[in-house]
Amino acid sequence: MTRIRIGVIGAGLIGRKHLRKLAEHSNYELVGIADVNAKQVAAEQPGARVFEDYRKLLDEARPEAVIIASPNQLHAENGIACARRGIHILIEKPVTDTLQTSADLIAEVRKAGIKSLVGHHRRHHEQVKALKALVAQGRIGDVVGVSAIWATHKPAEYFKIAPWRSQAGGGPILINLIHEIDFMRFAIGEIVAVSAIAANRQRSFAVEDTAAALVEFENGALGTFFLSDCAVSPWTMEQGLGESPEFPYSGQSSYRVMGRRGTLEFPSLDQWIQANDAQDWNKPIQAQANHAGSIDPYVAQLDHFRDVIRGVATSLQPVEDGARSLLVTLAIAEAATSGRRIDLRERYAALSTS
Ligand SMILES: NC(=O)c1ccc[n+]([C@@H]2O[C@H](COP(=O)([O-])OP(=O)(O)OC[C@H]3O[C@@H](n4cnc5c(N)ncnc54)[C@H](O)[C@@H]3O)[C@@H](O)[C@H]2O)c1
Repeated sequence: MTRIRIGVIGAGLIGRKHLRKLAEHSNYELVGIADVNAKQVAAEQPGARVFEDYRKLLDEARPEAVIIASPNQLHAENGIACARRGIHILIEKPVTDTLQTSADLIAEVRKAGIKSLVGHHRRHHEQVKALKALVAQGRIGDVVGVSAIWATHKPAEYFKIAPWRSQAGGGPILINLIHEIDFMRFAIGEIVAVSAIAANRQRSFAVEDTAAALVEFENGALGTFFLSDCAVSPWTMEQGLGESPEFPYSGQSSYRVMGRRGTLEFPSLDQWIQANDAQDWNKPIQAQANHAGSIDPYVAQLDHFRDVIRGVATSLQPVEDGARSLLVTLAIAEAATSGRRIDLRERYAALSTS
């Protein structure tokens, strides 16, 4: 089979990771990279065609597909330029920076009929797929609630090298929580309302360092989420899964998904149940193990993108769905500021009709 001619826009932290994975993938041929720091990127990527202007990559190298790994504010512009040229897109998360630009991108993608996949790579983990399947099979009965934590301590350097991270929008709600929201929507169920509180007491930056969110799922389940980037703990999904070497492995579960018949921890997938389905607080409870393999989610994401382009798979996350994860996350940030509970149903409807 012919290889897919692919380009990459933005060769920063995640763009370089995609380039490393592409170099080892036999189904793709890298035809060019676009980055405003073209000279530096050309030095780092010997043999690659590097363009300063991403439009030249699209028009001169003529890729069939592009990975968009530029800053959030450019995702919509880059994605629309690809759509207008009939180029399929794997677009990094968040799909765009605002709901309006998401709606603009969705309209262009639909008009052009291109394939789209949002880079919420966690959807491609075997453990995530296993949790989704176990919940869907009713292994813990109807889901009643979720209790989740994402707590870690970002070093001072993280803020020094990128001062925007200490300003509004640069905090853990918009940067980190969006992954968790997308994971919960994918594996557990659609989120229909949110409430939140946030604090900046520890670092005293303009942006929050800690937040607590309440989420309501479509099936009536409730969830609590504690989030902090200034607390040392083993409870982040990154550490629990050991998904990349920069976050040392803890193996600890940061999620408990509780149902009428039992509970699943994640990512360990330990399942707590009572003998004979007792549903009785006076009866003993025991854990049973579930196993799922561990794979590189970024490679699995490229495999899936290949299958979507070739028409043998349906995108696990087209731009429309990426916009819903953005919508929930933005609503949590808004709820933390306003102190109000926000019902998302009308907002979802407005997004799909605009
Ligand atoms: N899925 C993941 O695991 C993951 C991880 C990190 C970042 N991201 C997402 O990827 C995107 C990039 O994040 P990052 O951390 O790699 O950022 P980064 O700042 O390290 O990289 C962005 C790159 O885009 C380039 N760039 C800027 N303007 C450009 C333009 N007009 N045309 C072409 N290139 C341009 C920059 O020079 C830089 O090399 C963000 O949307 C981020 O949310 C995803």
